[in-house]
Amino acid sequence: DDEADLVDRAPIVTIMGHVDHGKTSLLDYIRNSRVASGEAGGITQHIGAYDVMTETGKRITFLDTPGHEAFTAMRARGAKVTDVVIIVVAADDDVMPQTKEALNHAQAAGSPIVIAINKIDKPAANPDRIREQLAAMNVLVEEWGGKYQCQEISAKSGQGIPDLLEKVLLEAEILELKANPNRNAVGTVIEASLDKGRGYVTTVLVQTGTLKVGDIVLAGSHYGRVKAMTDHRGKKMKAAIPSTPVQVLGLDGAPQAGDKLQVMETEREARELASNRTQLQREQSMRTKKHITLDEIGRRLA
Ligand code: GTP
Ligand code: NA
Ligand code: MG
Repeated sequence: DDEADLVDRAPIVTIMGHVDHGKTSLLDYIRNSRVASGEAGGITQHIGAYDVMTETGKRITFLDTPGHEAFTAMRARGAKVTDVVIIVVAADDDVMPQTKEALNHAQAAGSPIVIAINKIDKPAANPDRIREQLAAMNVLVEEWGGKYQCQEISAKSGQGIPDLLEKVLLEAEILELKANPNRNAVGTVIEASLDKGRGYVTTVLVQTGTLKVGDIVLAGSHYGRVKAMTDHRGKKMKAAIPSTPVQVLGLDGAPQAGDKLQVMETEREARELASNRTQLQREQSMRTKKHITLDEIGRRLA
């Protein structure tokens, strides 16, 4: 891309942490509260990604992945979608196996990490114990002289959440995230499903370029013309700039999470590539089945 075409884009953030430490509560609070400016009370449907405006007027996009598995699966498919990782640790619990796993995943992906010590409202909360346990794993928080930004929060009352978002934005600033909106869009599929009334609905995170209604797109082994786009509130959109999550209608099937979506010049080209990929997948799955059969035969003969 031409340097002149590059403009700032919003950071894309994933929240990870041990079971029940408050990932969903934090996401819900951010989406529904006034932290997510002016949109409180709106009807929200589940969508794998959404963007909010912070109190300081900056945009952040959150990926609502069902757990580390989705994050790992997307990475395995070569999709690097996360800019910053928030790791949630419950202050009334300990740094747990999945906390460590989350730290490892984020470090392996080279993503900056912000620690959120959650459930600070609970009488049994002991945030310093969490800091100690993190330090024992070489994750030294900033207030103790380390490099990791850390924020005490309550996903129940909202305490500390605006500060947490500012810390995320600080990490993002260092990354100098930029993209070119003046080109054909390329993005990553976050999730896809078949909706009774609307057909295949594909949640896409646009990473570069601008995705528009009418564009011909190829995603995994599926293609189609973008019939309509909506944001996570169901509001119609005509165009989606980089770092914007959108629900796309018009694909001929459900691509997989982590599949790349790209705008094609002609429908014919998109159809041919989609069909080639479908054929390839069929052959691969047949080979796998054959292996299983041979293994089974081997076992029976043994
Ligand atoms: P999984 O998706 O199952 O891994 O859990 P999670 O990390 O998404 O945790 P979730 O948000 O479901 O929260 C687990 C429980 O902790 C729920 O009962 C929440 O109401 C509660 N909880 C979450 N955050 C807070 C908090 O800040 N304070 C208090 N008191 N309770 C919280
Ligand atoms: Na839970
Ligand atoms: Mg959850």
